[in-house]
Amino acid sequence: MNIALEDKKIKDIKSDIEIVLVIDNNQKHKWVKDTKELKIQNFSAKEGESIIIDSRLYIGVDSFEHDDIRISCANAIKILRDKNYKSAKVGLYLNGCTSKYVRAMVDGFVLGAYSFDKYKSEKIDAKLKNITISNSEYSDKKFNLQEAKDAVKKAIIVSNSTNLTRDIVNTTPEDLTPIAMSKLAKKIAKENGYECIIEDEKYLEQNGMGAMLAVSRASVHKPRLIHLAYKPKKAIAKITLVGKGLTYDSGGLSLKPSDYMVTMKSDKSGGSAVLGIMNAVKELNLPIEVHGIIGAVENMIGGNAYKPDDILIAKNGKSIEIRNTDAEGRLVLADCLVYAQERVEADYIFDIATLTGACVVALGEYTTGIMGHSNALKHKMTKAARSSGELVGTLSFNKYLKKTIKSQIADICNISSTRYGGAITAGMFLDNFIKDKNRDKWLHLDIAGPAYVEKAWGYNPYGASGAGVRMVLKFMEQLTQEG
Ligand code: BES
Ligand code: ZN
Ligand code: ZN
Repeated sequence: MNIALEDKKIKDIKSDIEIVLVIDNNQKHKWVKDTKELKIQNFSAKEGESIIIDSRLYIGVDSFEHDDIRISCANAIKILRDKNYKSAKVGLYLNGCTSKYVRAMVDGFVLGAYSFDKYKSEKIDAKLKNITISNSEYSDKKFNLQEAKDAVKKAIIVSNSTNLTRDIVNTTPEDLTPIAMSKLAKKIAKENGYECIIEDEKYLEQNGMGAMLAVSRASVHKPRLIHLAYKPKKAIAKITLVGKGLTYDSGGLSLKPSDYMVTMKSDKSGGSAVLGIMNAVKELNLPIEVHGIIGAVENMIGGNAYKPDDILIAKNGKSIEIRNTDAEGRLVLADCLVYAQERVEADYIFDIATLTGACVVALGEYTTGIMGHSNALKHKMTKAARSSGELVGTLSFNKYLKKTIKSQIADICNISSTRYGGAITAGMFLDNFIKDKNRDKWLHLDIAGPAYVEKAWGYNPYGASGAGVRMVLKFMEQLTQEG
């Protein structure tokens, strides 16, 4: 699908259909032509409502909020997807910041048009090929065409990368093994001219990454440590991203009940988000050095599986008592975080992971949990998330919960002794692998809720949403605007 902005009035643009957004049930907007007919048909302009009158598709929008615009533009595309129109046009309603509106619209179109048919024997070819956004007569404020065109471009890059992450996560665990993930990473590196390091189990063994190695041991699919680096000239900051890439999480010997095991192909969502972000940074021309590190591993059962009662030694020398092999993500991240800090002196370190069911209990399935020591940094990420359209909530560490991951026979235990606060105790476990000097540079993003939902929500489809991609890219963009 091709989306372009044209400096033309809407009536001068040829297309098969016009998308008309009716915002806040204000049918008196000058762009709403069929007021009478809409009234007869009881159109109340609520989100999800739509009517086609002649060659106009009227779409309800709940408010002028950017995320409501995104949702309604996605709804418009979903309706047109099943019809025979080849081209559509839409007017730009200026209200406040133009480029933010353009971006929200394009986000909605690209994210809403996503479908995953890799495993369908019949593929449906969407007829709609072109959407033209008009800088139309609706606009009565000052308008910067170049800014708006830039916004279209950025929205397409970010949303396409979000869709790439969705594709990776939705792919089956047999097709998307750790090795397959490393091949994908190599492809992204090659296309963008990134540095790319792929390490295998020998490296993990020789470099004391005993935690990650143990998790991978019972799988026939060998682990991979993936490290991509984008190093632009004159970078203003360095960011390291560490992704949990569990291509499947059966729970290991602490086997998941069958109902909980379904969807665990999505346990690679953090790593997949890192790939999506890396896919975008060069094209966005961000003056930031970005390192994407992924622990790609499968957690399985077998005669050689790691066990509850084992004690593992992580890359920083800390010993970990295993009491549940299903708390495996934190083990993989522990080694990857230590690797990350040894390799790169970053200004920011973000890990992204589907780490705990407890985070979903705490915040619901649509919201990412943000954890870390620095309130300022948490605030900065929250701001970025809000502007990107992703939902986040912060969960706070405390010294009482910290005591619950102590071990009697090792330095630390991989599960907490209390059944409450599981998202936070997992985050505090990771803190053991963050160097003191990096304390305030680190954030842990638990995306267990939003990464994969088995129903469509807003502009997100059934399955993978690409959680984390848009918020972290927005964080980077905001960094470049600070100075
Ligand atoms: N991958 C899961 C967490 C998860 C749960 C992700 C639901 C997405 C949806 C993780 O490895 C896990 O199993 N965590 C355990 C930890 C427990 C054993 C302390 C959990 O959350 O139950
Ligand atoms: Zn698990
Ligand atoms: Zn897991």
